[in-house]
Amino acid sequence: MDTAVQNESRFVHYRQRDDIGLIVIDSPPVNALGHGVRAGLMTALNEAVADAQVKAVVLTAAGRTFPAGADIREFGKPAQPPSLSEVIAAVESSGKLTVAALHGTAFGGGLELALGCDYRFAAVEAKLGLPEVKLGLLPGAGGTQRLPRLIGVAATLPIIVEGNPVPATEAKALGLVDALAEPGSSGDSFIDAALVYARSLLAEGAVKRPLGEMPVQQPDADLFESFEAKTRQRRRGFEAPLVCIESVRNAVALPFAEGLKQERALFEKLRDSAQSRAQRHAFFAEREVAKVPGLAKDTPTNPVAEAAVIGAGTMGGGIAMVFANAGIPVRLLDAQEEALERGLGVIRRNYEATAKKGRLTAAEVEERMALIRPTVSYDDLATVDLVIEAVFEDMELKKKVFAELDRVCKPGAILATNTSTLDVDAIAAATGRPESVLGLHFFSPANVMKLLEVVRGQATSDEVLATAMRLGKRVGKVAVAVGNCYGFVGNRMLHRRQSEAMLLVEEGAAPEQVDKVLTDFGFPMGPFAMSDLAGIDVGWRIRNERRKAGDPEAPEYNWLDAIAERGRYGQKTKAGVYRYEEGSRTPIPDPEVAQIIAEHVRSKGVAQRSIEDREILERCLYAMVNEGARILEEGIAVRALEIDVIWIYGYGFPVYRGGPMFWANEIGAEAVSAACSAFRAASGREVWQPAPLLARLAETGGRFGDL
Ligand code: 3HC
Ligand code: NAI
Repeated sequence: MDTAVQNESRFVHYRQRDDIGLIVIDSPPVNALGHGVRAGLMTALNEAVADAQVKAVVLTAAGRTFPAGADIREFGKPAQPPSLSEVIAAVESSGKLTVAALHGTAFGGGLELALGCDYRFAAVEAKLGLPEVKLGLLPGAGGTQRLPRLIGVAATLPIIVEGNPVPATEAKALGLVDALAEPGSSGDSFIDAALVYARSLLAEGAVKRPLGEMPVQQPDADLFESFEAKTRQRRRGFEAPLVCIESVRNAVALPFAEGLKQERALFEKLRDSAQSRAQRHAFFAEREVAKVPGLAKDTPTNPVAEAAVIGAGTMGGGIAMVFANAGIPVRLLDAQEEALERGLGVIRRNYEATAKKGRLTAAEVEERMALIRPTVSYDDLATVDLVIEAVFEDMELKKKVFAELDRVCKPGAILATNTSTLDVDAIAAATGRPESVLGLHFFSPANVMKLLEVVRGQATSDEVLATAMRLGKRVGKVAVAVGNCYGFVGNRMLHRRQSEAMLLVEEGAAPEQVDKVLTDFGFPMGPFAMSDLAGIDVGWRIRNERRKAGDPEAPEYNWLDAIAERGRYGQKTKAGVYRYEEGSRTPIPDPEVAQIIAEHVRSKGVAQRSIEDREILERCLYAMVNEGARILEEGIAVRALEIDVIWIYGYGFPVYRGGPMFWANEIGAEAVSAACSAFRAASGREVWQPAPLLARLAETGGRFGDL
């Protein structure tokens, strides 16, 4: 019997179902444990506790998920009681048998709340996790102390230190979940199943089992040390993973109450750290970029049921995989049968390598291959909803391809280019439907890199932009809308960093010194190791063409050209800025390169000097920030957070520094602007003139993103 509603707080409902008290958290979208929810939980719990008829309490949530964590938006604001830890302590010591019923994503504080219950019941489809570390935090409501008591230290460490979700079935095997609902049960049927489970526990005479009162099993002697060594290597530069380990160590070494106290102190230290601030900025920025300013939320989008990719080379093959991985059928067109076969061969080898690692079954490889249908005929593209062109970077060729697409594709089909540098508007002008044309700039390897720059042309319609943004999310990318200019946002800023790095070497820094400064900062690789990976010959050929054509803006001859001229193209020729041993990708400084640089510098008559690491860092990064400010002023990126997301997901900017513009904010516009002016005075180069926006922020003490 469902008795009358007894408590109707805005965020938490309490109902009595015979001898069971049912507490339902209802705070969309993700039932985050904000102040209202915590207060409502306390009231509902008190009501259940006070009712002698109630023998057990089922704690669950409405909507799409059990709480996905503490309310991150509250961090940094004054704490309002009751704290989550107090709520969990009240649940644990309530005297009633408590059962958490989990569905959706029971994450962070949500899972910690469930750990305060005696039993955990879960939907088969649910995911459980403690992802706080990804926000630069640790589970701060008892997670690091209770989880090892439940499932042991060895199983706890990866969950807390890596922060990845655990599927319910795996959680059941670990003992984190006690029972699973029937597949497919949701809403009322899931709650009914949880009530049945709670009653079965009562019938069995199940007793309370507060985790806080349980002992922790001693782990193997070297478990912590080996895990920590691995973590230092994998999460270089991150503070939170190591603090997570420290807190789990405390669970073993200290009594529960003391461990909890320490956990709180460590949590607060991390919460107030620069790294966590940056990671929380990145979390919200990633979600914010999906909401394009000026694009109405209800802009209609078109379904993309079938796609096509033109060009089966490096990018085209990767992009075709992106569609196949998302279950979208895709035609892959190349001008040459051989190129098509080569491209398909690469795709198959990629999938087979993934299967070898156990991440795909043989059947899945075949399913994905079957979704990619090769062709050499444009007429096969008549029915597709979206085409992405990835042929050579050649304007005349691209124009021809787009004229052909305009001829064969159905009205309303979206025509996109993956160009890295060419003018999207000029390409659109080759069609009679520029409103359907835009840039979809994937990053290499396209099937791996999360970033997608969505380049809005002058004529691109809102519907086309909205469809592309939605498609980006559907295929697992972080899609960021940008304007049309040379290099768009990411490569335009990269270009500035790269020229500064080149000049630093010319002025006396060693390439390996420049690379080390940037990897120490947190980039996965330095600018020159990156040139070697991408291939120095590509840029060299482009520069040569421009010089031959008499382009007045062609860059002057530089030491990288001198290196490329000697056939040192990078990793692919085992020699570039560095040398590489057979079968290895480790860059080794090469005296021959030092020689080439020295000769080039002598012939140019540049006086070399020793350059400090600090100057290297500032010149490489402030050059980017100053360009970022221009990009903002021109409206190429609408908000600073777009630039941050692009650099984090496309270029490995350390997430714990929040992206270049967030990082610049932390330093302060005044200091950055003053440094730019000083570099201008020292070098005489106009490019160091502080961008007007940067200068303005320096004057007013403002921050990028304030506007
Ligand atoms: N606090 C506040 N807002 C949150 C939130 C949280 N914990 N989690 C998600 N949101 C917001 C998002 O910002 C977004 O808001 P918006 O619509 O205004 O942009 C909205 O909820 C929906 O989120 P997503 O767009 O991410 O929705 P998805 O369905 O793609 O993903 C999710 C849902 C998997 C739950 C994902 O949002 C997520 O991973 N959230 C963060 C989980 C997390 O880190 N939890 C730990 C928090 S820290 C903590 O618990 C401390 C404790 O130990 C003391
Ligand atoms: P690629 O040289 O590997 O592949 C180009 C493919 O296009 C080849 O298979 C070629 O046979 C095919 N092709 C040429 N003319 C064609 C035509 N008329 N019709 C059909 N197919 C034709 O080149 P890559 O590196 O894949 O680059 C493709 C595009 O992607 C370029 O515009 C490039 O600027 C851009 N891009 C490249 C990135 C990279 O890292 N390689 C990153 C992001 C964008």
